Amino acid sequence: MEDKKEKSLYIETYGCQMNVADSEIVGSIMSKDGYSTSEKAEDADIIFINTCSIRDNAEKKIRKRLKEIKIMKKKNPNLKVGILGCMAERLKQQLLDEEDAVDLIVGPDAYRELPQLIKTVESGRRAINVLLSEEETYEEIEPVRIGSNKISAYIAIMRGCENFCTYCVVPFTRGKERSRDPQTIIEEAKNLFNKGYREVTLLGQNVNSYDYSSEGINISFPDLVAKVAAISPLLRVRFSTSHPKDISDELIKTIAKTPNICRAIHLPFQSGRNEVLKRMNRKYTREWYMDRISMIKKHIPDCGLSTDIIAGFCGETEEEHLQTLDLIEWVGYDYAYMFKYSERPNTIAQKKFEDDIPEEVKGRRLQEIIDLQRKLALSSNLKNIGETTEVLVESLSKRSDNDFSGRNSQNKTVIFPKENYKIGDYVQVKILECTAATLIGKAVQKG
Ligand code: 5AD
Ligand code: SF4
Repeated sequence: MEDKKEKSLYIETYGCQMNVADSEIVGSIMSKDGYSTSEKAEDADIIFINTCSIRDNAEKKIRKRLKEIKIMKKKNPNLKVGILGCMAERLKQQLLDEEDAVDLIVGPDAYRELPQLIKTVESGRRAINVLLSEEETYEEIEPVRIGSNKISAYIAIMRGCENFCTYCVVPFTRGKERSRDPQTIIEEAKNLFNKGYREVTLLGQNVNSYDYSSEGINISFPDLVAKVAAISPLLRVRFSTSHPKDISDELIKTIAKTPNICRAIHLPFQSGRNEVLKRMNRKYTREWYMDRISMIKKHIPDCGLSTDIIAGFCGETEEEHLQTLDLIEWVGYDYAYMFKYSERPNTIAQKKFEDDIPEEVKGRRLQEIIDLQRKLALSSNLKNIGETTEVLVESLSKRSDNDFSGRNSQNKTVIFPKENYKIGDYVQVKILECTAATLIGKAVQKG
């Protein structure tokens, strides 16, 4: 046996699900180079921070974390620190100039270079690679599942974004849109299923514009979801995030006829008023969005619906804000991610419009959105009381070791007493009570 000590790597992930998936690719690339992933930052030889730039407070959080890491470096001078992801791509060399705790800057398309770049860092120099690629999809890399419950996993199926919503930094940090070879996606999903995983979430910044063509074959997003779902009826398939402009009738009908494609669609609308959608360059109207929701409700009546909403975008009037509230109420979402507009340097909105809504007005409008959404989530959950729903058990409940936590097809969290069930089981649970965030029930039979 070789007696060489393995070096350990700690990866800290901020931002979206895509970043979680990317960290798992990074873990895989580094493990092939002899690094093991560590559970604690304090034990690691290298810390990678996979960063997010979407809003100013996401970047502020990472700057704060770097201050703590600077103190760790004083205690352990051999510790190396790398910044990965969107903030690395947005700030490039500037981040090296401003943060002396940082040794390495690597953008989202350059992770294959990490082992090489680490060698430079270990020789005492700092390194940077922020080249964006038009082809990289890391397609053949089998991710190392970090901190996983061994039941649900993310599979990145495409990268980049070319929609250029005016508020958004992503097209600049993640480059051109590209779809991954479907064969490698299906292989990855099959491997996960064979290892006992029971849920995969297909990821992309704009997942439903997935479109792969090569040597005369063309696979669209509905084709791909159907193929992944065909692996086994016991494998749940989810996807995120969809753009309203690409949510086709074909996709909706594919979900409707395939029971293991989850009845949950995340469809960000951002604003309920056409003038605002136009300033945001969202490429759809309020009417188009409502038509898509009607189509979903018609074909998948029990579909869970969630969205993203921005309060206080440039020039938003009180009337425009009221139209957002009106649309939220009309749809009746189960869940929403709600944000105050945060101006991002060098985006189209920053160049073209004034960030003119006072902070307190943004805050008040956001609060009105949150209050309404809370009411809607509670009334959606109250409707489930007395119903029986199939839950995939994912973990112990956070509140009690006597209870399990899982989700139903609609992506609602369900808590119920453990009895003899185990993680990974499908359980029929009768809903007895609820809060705005959770359904609480009791198992009625083994699924
Ligand atoms: N300010 C506030 N929210 C934003 N989002 C994207 N960019 C910004 C920004 N500059 C939100 C959108 C998007 C979600 C991922 O983040 O709602 O759908
Ligand atoms: Fe954040 Fe967007 Fe980058 Fe994800 S893609 S890390 S949400 S900026």
